[in-house]
Amino acid sequence: MTKPVSARTLRPTPRNLALLARKLRAGELVAAPTETVYGLAANALDAKACRGIFRAKRRPANDPLIVHLYAAKQLPEVCRPNDSARRLAAAFWPGPLTLVLPKTDAIPAIVTAGKDSVAVRVPAHRVFRQLLKLSGLPLAAPSANPFGYVSPTSAAHVRQGLGERIGFILDGGECPIGLESTIVDLRDEATPRLLRPGAVTREQLEAVLGRKVEVVKRHIPVASDRAQVAPGMLTRHYSPRTPVELHATLSVDDAAYAPREAFLFLQAPAGRRPRNVFSLDTRGDLRRAARGLFAALRRLDEGSFARIHVELAPGDGIADAINDRLRRAAAKR
Ligand code: TXA
Ligand code: MG
Repeated sequence: MTKPVSARTLRPTPRNLALLARKLRAGELVAAPTETVYGLAANALDAKACRGIFRAKRRPANDPLIVHLYAAKQLPEVCRPNDSARRLAAAFWPGPLTLVLPKTDAIPAIVTAGKDSVAVRVPAHRVFRQLLKLSGLPLAAPSANPFGYVSPTSAAHVRQGLGERIGFILDGGECPIGLESTIVDLRDEATPRLLRPGAVTREQLEAVLGRKVEVVKRHIPVASDRAQVAPGMLTRHYSPRTPVELHATLSVDDAAYAPREAFLFLQAPAGRRPRNVFSLDTRGDLRRAARGLFAALRRLDEGSFARIHVELAPGDGIADAINDRLRRAAAKR
């Protein structure tokens, strides 16, 4: 793994937050924690600054960015909110929910990859909120990782992937949720569509909206796939380099027979454990498993395992979000 370098990693002291808010206003990039994953932030109203995000991440220009706001009352500055948006905002913001709505002219085309809709959310993390408040800006921020790799849930993850490509990393510790936000397309209020499952579950959305939320089938890309329907929905968006294989259940016996392969359980198996057995939570709590999932995939990817076997999460709700990220990690290149 490449070592740290040009990025300055700063603690979120009042002085550093004020400094980085000024850097954002000057058009620079800042990586900072949200409650979901670390984001790479830039002034969402500044096309040039946002171009820097695409360059640093080596992200294709057809993959739109999420715009972060300090408060829901700023929505009309960046999009045209409808009744569904106001209800979900009241129920889940600040928090891990992103809404897709028609954009306003204030948002440059590069942010939305030329689409006439914009993805917006009001994050809950104290550090990111301070940047939003002190800069007074809407901040465009994708996950702070090189395009195609596992999203970062710590400042160290950001440094490993982007340390040589950005100026500043705010270290606010580990992200409490650990999976990217739920994304729901609200452009057609009669048919809300779930574009990405996350910590806010489909059941929760349906309870607030009082109607069914349609689940959009995940897009399986091929190498030549340039004009995708929903650009960011690349299946291999979360891939470790080591091949990942998914299983309904894992057994310690399987692990004993394949010592060069890693076995990642949701819940720590009882009894004697071979050294290639890992677990996401001692008791198999799914919220805790979600929190540690990306860090575990990264750690196992850095080990010299020939393959990573992972157990799928049972049930729905947060399990849907975990399994979605696992399927992407396992997708063939
Ligand atoms: O939790 C999160 O959402 C994190 C933190 C930093 O806020 N951000 C994040 O951003 O995961 P990113 O860029 O890794 O994923 C954003 C995805 C895009 O890949 C795309 O799928 C979707 O959001 N998106 C953005 N704008 C959209 C639009 N106008 N229509 C449909 N999907 C859009
Ligand atoms: Mg991402």
